[in-house]
Amino acid sequence: MQPRSIVFVLLASLFPFLGKAQSGGHAAMDQFVSGLMKKMTLDEKIGQLNLPTGGNFTITGPQPSQDVEDKIRKGEVGGVFSIYTPEAIRKEQDIAVHESRLHIPLIIGLDVIHGHKTIFPIPLGMSCTWDTTLIEDAARIAATEASADGVDWVFSPMVDIARDPRWGRVAEGSGEDPWLGSLIAAAVVRGYQGKSLEDTNTVMACVKHFALYGAVEGGREYNSVDMSPLKMYQYYLPPYHAALEAGAGSIMTSFNDLDGLPSTANHWLLTDLLRKQWGFRGFVVSDYTAVSELSNHGLGDLQAVSARALKAGTDMDMVSEGFLKTLKKSVQEGKVSMADIDRACRLVLEAKYKLGLFKNPYLRINEQRAHASMTTPESLEMAKKVAEHSFVLLKNENQTLPLSRSSTIALVGPLADDQDDLQGAWVLAGDPKKVITIRQGLDQAAGDSSRVIYARGSDITDDPFMVEKMIRYHLLPPGPPRQKDSAGMVREALQAASKADVIVAVLGESESMSGEAASRSDIGIPACQESLLHALVATGKPVVLVLVNGRPLTLPWEESHCAAILETWAGGTEGGAAIADVLYGAYNPSGKLTMSFPLSVGQIPVYYNHKNTGRPFDPNNKYTSQYLDIPNDPLFPFGFGLSYTSFSCSAPSLDRTRLTGDQQAVATVTVTNTGKYPGTETVQLYISQPTATLTRSVEDLKGFRKVFLEPGKSAQVRFTITPDDLKYYHMNLDYDWDPGTFIIRTGPNSRDVQSASLVWKKGP
Ligand code: BGC
Repeated sequence: MQPRSIVFVLLASLFPFLGKAQSGGHAAMDQFVSGLMKKMTLDEKIGQLNLPTGGNFTITGPQPSQDVEDKIRKGEVGGVFSIYTPEAIRKEQDIAVHESRLHIPLIIGLDVIHGHKTIFPIPLGMSCTWDTTLIEDAARIAATEASADGVDWVFSPMVDIARDPRWGRVAEGSGEDPWLGSLIAAAVVRGYQGKSLEDTNTVMACVKHFALYGAVEGGREYNSVDMSPLKMYQYYLPPYHAALEAGAGSIMTSFNDLDGLPSTANHWLLTDLLRKQWGFRGFVVSDYTAVSELSNHGLGDLQAVSARALKAGTDMDMVSEGFLKTLKKSVQEGKVSMADIDRACRLVLEAKYKLGLFKNPYLRINEQRAHASMTTPESLEMAKKVAEHSFVLLKNENQTLPLSRSSTIALVGPLADDQDDLQGAWVLAGDPKKVITIRQGLDQAAGDSSRVIYARGSDITDDPFMVEKMIRYHLLPPGPPRQKDSAGMVREALQAASKADVIVAVLGESESMSGEAASRSDIGIPACQESLLHALVATGKPVVLVLVNGRPLTLPWEESHCAAILETWAGGTEGGAAIADVLYGAYNPSGKLTMSFPLSVGQIPVYYNHKNTGRPFDPNNKYTSQYLDIPNDPLFPFGFGLSYTSFSCSAPSLDRTRLTGDQQAVATVTVTNTGKYPGTETVQLYISQPTATLTRSVEDLKGFRKVFLEPGKSAQVRFTITPDDLKYYHMNLDYDWDPGTFIIRTGPNSRDVQSASLVWKKGP
């Protein structure tokens, strides 16, 4: 008998109704889980709530877990995370299934953030595609690969709305808009979870970080959040809800304090809102040591905070072992009820049931599938396509781009021939050696490598404070960071430039400068790269700035001195090939920003859907809302992105301008490709209501259409507007609309809009 069938027989004898129960819906699941729980001791139930890290892999928090295998054997572990490969997972699953008293399989989690082995652009980049089909397809590939590596459960999507680019984790999210963020959140969940969680190539999604983590004060990582209910409901909560509505099986608490109570101990958040209002039936896992960190928040010792977290609605404790070490005592002392333990245990077991693990704990563990499924040519092609679609052209003076294939290029910059940084900040399984660098991509695309003269030009940063931290956290090797003296590197770059027709400068951030624990107070290009850029611009040759970075940057000097700017984020495995295609015009860029790029840090938070104030800015009146030293507007607004061609968008024409009740209006926009290249425009629809019961955003995104057009061609795009698009949260948190005048704005970004107005009444 094969080992796998032995296990099945073993489980089948333990769980008699298994075969039938596994696919028999809610009642069957209830019956199965209740039957199992009757056999479980209190210790075993608590064990299911414990989620340690696995051994020997990347540690994603301040401390690794200890003695994990012993604990699995003793029934003290419900799941393990941060491990992958069938061999490593089989080892742990074998212990759970063969050596623990009740043979309950583990659930295996992993941070699969923008791909598993085939690495896609960072999520912020992917969001700039404004293409939920592509994003869903990317998540599908990630799920296929991760599941083939034995993973059941991925800690993604990260759906935290963020308006502060100092926060490094903006790289992991979809930007500042709740409406677009919700569409993307749902698409990612669909991609991961596929048709059925019992299919071998699906994984359970874990939506994170619940809630409001993106609003940490000052953009400083792990900081506190204080927010009015209206702001929360209107702008920050929708993407979490959308991801759960799309069927996400689990959700992760956030680290932050939220109006005086950290999320992990917040009963209102985890029970009243999540369970009662939203009807969520999956399980809640804490973030990494977020349970024990409640003590640092000031809520008491480990026993007190563990009890509080459980009672608030946290079901599983990631790494801190507060549940494992203290919940039994709390039950004995009457501080925690058996009902609380049972609730959490049931939800964790249900997740395993939904994932098909009771039927076959080895469902996803399959060496052959792992061998066959990773970085296939089709996946890599998709990674390249997503990367191309994610790039945002921010400037293109005198049609500097696309580059002519006959021109000689000086390719300069510390990120031009770099694999790790192009892969992005949140990659565990991806192999950086598989990443195509920009230099390789250009060499390949140019056909004749003598056309590309490379010089590194500078280090990523020489800021002593930052370098010292990077060395302390093992992100840079100890010792002097420079490969050569900086003047020498710049000289070499200038020599390359002297032989070239055009300079391509690849500058920005290393992967460790964005993502978790990577807040920055100055979000400009680091000084040593900036000096290099000044020297290159001073040559008088056109400079194309290719940005590799994980957040919006402040680029006022670059915007006024570089001939062209292409934002490429961290493009993933195929990043370099995709960049080369775009630079040479094989793909005409179509990405649109999903986060505003501030003019300076002093403007932050700067976001498109802000309020009007009582004194809206008027250049002729000092006593209006403004800075004396800088404009109010961001350098590049939300929704912005150019193309090698040009488009014109007509003003919206409305089929009716007076509506009542549930009627619908249709806004039509004619978009024309007025330039020389075929290209894609994303026509955006924003709605504003100048007079309402409460103050409203100046505009809110409510629709978009991507249109591909050959030169000289036009198309009409139609947006159907319904009363749902007019709704917002009122004082008592009712989601409803106020009758009145609405301004319908359409255009290629949130700033350059044209408008038409209509009057909508509730009744006759
Ligand atoms: C992060 C989460 C991540 C978890 C597990 C935490 O530090 O905040 O996003 O899923 O670690 O790696």
